[in-house]
Amino acid sequence: MDDRPIGMFDSGFGGLTVARALFDLLPGEDVVYVGDTGRYPYGPRPLDQVREFARQISAFLVAEHDVKMVVIACNTAAAAALELLRFEYDVPVVGVIDPGVRAAVSATRNRRVGVVGTVGTISSGAYQRAVRALRSPVELTCCACPGFVEFVERGETESEQVHVLAERLLTPLRAAGVDALLLGCTHYPFLARTIGDVMGRDVVLVSSADETAFEVRSILTDTGLGRRSEGKGCHRFASSGDALWFKELGSRLLGLDVGEVERLEWDGPYNEERQWP
Ligand code: DGL
Repeated sequence: MDDRPIGMFDSGFGGLTVARALFDLLPGEDVVYVGDTGRYPYGPRPLDQVREFARQISAFLVAEHDVKMVVIACNTAAAAALELLRFEYDVPVVGVIDPGVRAAVSATRNRRVGVVGTVGTISSGAYQRAVRALRSPVELTCCACPGFVEFVERGETESEQVHVLAERLLTPLRAAGVDALLLGCTHYPFLARTIGDVMGRDVVLVSSADETAFEVRSILTDTGLGRRSEGKGCHRFASSGDALWFKELGSRLLGLDVGEVERLEWDGPYNEERQWP
């Protein structure tokens, strides 16, 4: 048994979809969440750069918070860095891609599955590889959706503009006749109403959040790393962007008060100046 916290991270607010599933399934675990809002979006960046961000955040979680596990609650970062982080750290490292694929494959009836994600995730080929590794006879249609993440980070999840963008970006998936659509970016469940409206009622939207939480639970059980102490776990949040904005929008999206948000400053050349809403 191990009372250290679980560490998790995303480029911003998207990983809160996974955090919420984890809090609900494992209410006794302590969790530290890092939202790299100062450097989002990851999707359009070269994978090498995202890999460096993922290493930097994981090093912070391990060194400063002594986490017992790292959950990469971001598809782009998982596509870029999962293997490397597993190699570099002794603690278990969990991604969202394989859990999402398992959930989508079991949700489809007509064996036509769609995946939407960032440009980085889709062009990495990580989903195609994950489906192949499962040896499941599904036909996969992948579609990058640049722009979706920015809407979520601005807290704009149901506007007319995001609907218009979704109509345009999701056209190939409708044409492919998919009956299950995997939200292969952890920000996208916040756009589920819009995406669901555009795809129609016959298409099941699949998020990797629950399946990832189940994977975390089985690793904790199998390795004996579950928390020993009784009682509700403590959840801490840190952001490399505006801490007040993280607190405000994070609490709204998570449906829970995130409390005080630690402000992170990274060394490095990629910290852009931003205007916060
Ligand atoms: N939420 C992330 C993902 O799952 C990254 C989005 C972004 O920063 O572009 O891919």
